[in-house]
Amino acid sequence: MTLGPDTLTPAVGAPLSRVEGREKVTGDARYAYEEPVEGVAYAAAVTATIAAGEIAVVDAEAALALPGVLAVLSHENAPRLGEADDGELLLFQSPRVAYRGQILAAVVAETLEGARDAASAVRLEYAPAPHDVELRAGHPGFYKPEKVNPSFPTDAATGDAEAALSAAAVVVDETYTTQPIHNNAMEPHASLALWEGGRLTLYDSIQGAWGASRTLAKVFELPPEDVRVIARHVGGGFGSKGTPRPQAVLAAIAARVVQRPVKAALTRQQMFATVGYRTPTIQRVRLGATRDGRLRAIAHDAFEQTSTLREFAEQTTVATRMMYAAPDRLTTHRLVALDVPTPSWMRAPGECPGMYALESAMDELAIACDMDPIELRVRNEPDVDPEKGIPFSSRNLVACLREGAERFGWADRDPTPGVRRDGRWLVGTGVASSTYPAYRSPSKATARLGDEGRFTVEIAAVDIGTGARTALTQIAADALGVDPDQVRMEIGDSRFGQAAVAGGSMGTASWGSAVVKACEALLAQGEGEVTVSTSEDVKAQAQLSRHAFGAQFAEVRVDADSGEVRVPRLFGMFAVGRVINAKTARSQFIGGMTMGMSMALLEESVMDGEFGDYLNHDLAQYHVPASADVQDVDAAWIEEDDGELNPMGSKGIGEIGIVGTAAAIANAVHHATGKRVRDLPIRLDRLVS
Ligand code: MOS
Repeated sequence: MTLGPDTLTPAVGAPLSRVEGREKVTGDARYAYEEPVEGVAYAAAVTATIAAGEIAVVDAEAALALPGVLAVLSHENAPRLGEADDGELLLFQSPRVAYRGQILAAVVAETLEGARDAASAVRLEYAPAPHDVELRAGHPGFYKPEKVNPSFPTDAATGDAEAALSAAAVVVDETYTTQPIHNNAMEPHASLALWEGGRLTLYDSIQGAWGASRTLAKVFELPPEDVRVIARHVGGGFGSKGTPRPQAVLAAIAARVVQRPVKAALTRQQMFATVGYRTPTIQRVRLGATRDGRLRAIAHDAFEQTSTLREFAEQTTVATRMMYAAPDRLTTHRLVALDVPTPSWMRAPGECPGMYALESAMDELAIACDMDPIELRVRNEPDVDPEKGIPFSSRNLVACLREGAERFGWADRDPTPGVRRDGRWLVGTGVASSTYPAYRSPSKATARLGDEGRFTVEIAAVDIGTGARTALTQIAADALGVDPDQVRMEIGDSRFGQAAVAGGSMGTASWGSAVVKACEALLAQGEGEVTVSTSEDVKAQAQLSRHAFGAQFAEVRVDADSGEVRVPRLFGMFAVGRVINAKTARSQFIGGMTMGMSMALLEESVMDGEFGDYLNHDLAQYHVPASADVQDVDAAWIEEDDGELNPMGSKGIGEIGIVGTAAAIANAVHHATGKRVRDLPIRLDRLVS
């Protein structure tokens, strides 16, 4: 990227603190629900208490009699909506109940307390139907979706994996399962809707303001320019805010009906039903190899669930398609539609559960071949993308494994499982590879020269807590050749035009490309304002396989009697192109790794088959790590120069931290105890039984 003439110290790479940090710690930074508006009313949702069937009666009388109640909305009286690919958004359009916890009605009232009180007074009678809520092997409803997210082939085959497996000297054939888990962003999903002359403005906790404006325009049958979505600050998302959630539609319907601005926020408990979760998976992995650990065949079959409202087909086996060299390969996905909430995006959807299974199986293969697990991976390093046959733009997995091993202290590891003891603790270490694609999508940016050499840059990026606003400020500063404090970065408004979602680890790469282009065009023009789009640049990207890589290392201690697992040390070594901000990047890595540890050991949404609902609905029963659970977690990265990505040379970093962590921990637990747990989470009962 071009630097302006005055730049002595590039901003990119520096560990800059968040430019909005002061606003955030003083409480000046406004989140969607906090926008002050005159005459606001509050909506509270009424949710289904059966898992399948129909609403027979809506009795709103008692609720309407309460003070301050403005309206009770249900399928009987709500406005008709247009279209949505996501059936979860078509609120109050039919009496059908698709899952327990679905929003079926709502109260709008003068106060939040009044709305919630009245919501509990709305009486719904049902005509229930039998429900089917449990993913299980051999379910007769499994089908082959047409594609998996976002647009990968459902199945992929090269050569004859079955034949190669039958002929292989060493075979690992194991089934791994992962549990349903729920995103729990600190900021619950919240929306504030205002209608002015038939145009909708929505302050929303959303990862993509521009995309949301397009989706909601279809739902409300409006021209796209008549919907404005604003998301200046968002308190975490992890994918669950990647697309509008039902509370956005609820706020907008309610505001239209009562003709006042309306705020709608989900309670923590409602989040467990309405914002999506990571699908549970059943995964069979088969690896066939020579005795010296050369893979001949890789097969990976994933079974997962979706809802009856929307097909969400997680791309669980796609990472297996590009990780290791093997001439014969097979990857498949099968789905069953259950009477459950729709699964959705959750940090590294696909790669995260898929790599847990693949990287556990690789550990099992290393043991079967009597090889070091790092050497096994190095031996199966492909020259080109093994499925597509095209070169990688850069691939530094081996460097991450080697450098990570050095820093972690892997060299003298005794591979024998279950032999290291420190008092009552069994001690072990494990390793796993990590990867995540380097995506980029079209974005539009405007750069403007103001007074005294100050610049404003506008783009509909969203900072969900990652530090995106700061990274973009650094990128703009270098492109303009000024200090970061001379750049004002305006983000989070769909009015700034098309922009990538803060998801798929593509935000900074996509937005940054547009920011650089706008700044360079402004410098060339020398004055005024310039708006650019990167849609043609993205289309023109050459045929290369673009991915980030990493190596995860874990040390665990397992109580020999109780099975309690502690993780004294987690270390991740990553290769992610150029790092834009050393401080916020490290936070992304160790945040992802902590979330991976959480998946390995703690998080589990437990399905209650009788009631047809996840029964742990709050942070008392749904376990996430407390500070004391997170001991030494650290991340580092190698210098990686990849000129084939974008003007910054960066790859995404939001998701790779979670990929491979659970496998590294499970592999370490095996090393410590000799017990292979193939079902997450690694609970005490699974270790001591
Ligand atoms: Mo991420 S699950 O792509 O927001």
